[in-house]
Amino acid sequence: MTGTATRTAVLRIADISAGYGNIKVLHGVSVSVGAGEIVSLLGPNGAGKTTALLACSGLVKVSGGDITLDDESLLKHSAHVIARKRLAHIPEDRSLFPSLTIDEHLRLCARPGGLDVLELFPELKKRRNKKAGVLSGGEQQMLALGRALATNPRVLLVDEMSMGLAPVVVERLFAALQDIASGGGLGVLMVEQHVHLALKYAQRGYVLSGGRVRTQGSAEELVDRWSEIESSYLGR
Ligand SMILES: Nc1ncnc2c1ncn2[C@@H]1O[C@H](COP(=O)(O)OP(=O)(O)O)[C@@H](O)[C@H]1O
Ligand SMILES: [Mg+2]
Repeated sequence: MTGTATRTAVLRIADISAGYGNIKVLHGVSVSVGAGEIVSLLGPNGAGKTTALLACSGLVKVSGGDITLDDESLLKHSAHVIARKRLAHIPEDRSLFPSLTIDEHLRLCARPGGLDVLELFPELKKRRNKKAGVLSGGEQQMLALGRALATNPRVLLVDEMSMGLAPVVVERLFAALQDIASGGGLGVLMVEQHVHLALKYAQRGYVLSGGRVRTQGSAEELVDRWSEIESSYLGR
């Protein structure tokens, strides 16, 4: 099953063009994410994956097409208005406040219906009075993921969650994400460099290069076709 017809899309990126100033980066990109679904954006460096996530959060200029969250267009809103909607974005740099503790981060972001982060990641509980700046990379990413989930999002955008982390931590984070997505109807759009990891946890994926979607399919299909995809679209 490759289509989303059987699911309601919570996030729909429809034929968008976007970029920085006069530089066009995305050219007619369409991606949809269903409730409870994890979708991967794959593709080489510079493909436009981060830009696509930033476009959803209102952080890059979209010059054509539409982006909807639960059928409401996000394009009429500024980034700070979008930040108050049920769309959470974990950027590549995690954007934690180094001098705030775990508890302070969680107090700042908690919203009704949000997840109990210290229950999800008990390892953070022991460190709750530590400042984010002294945490390990894995703890920081747990905090970044936890903080996003504490806002009770409908859609979570995650950029390179595995970056710089030990494999065992990465598996833990992805497994937590998978449980929450399938259990609570959260839609996840993730950018991930590690294709095997991305397709292990996602149900579907899109392959971007040069700011265009070159192919898409179920995770199983993409795994089966990966060597052909690499030679056809990724120049490997
Ligand atoms: N702030 C920026 N200003 C101008 N060009 C940018 C900026 N950020 C990214 N780009 C360009 O946009 C293209 C896509 O980048 P990006 O979305 O970060 O790719 P990916 O996440 O797939 O590696 C690249 O050519 C990159 O150089
Ligand atoms: Mg990127």
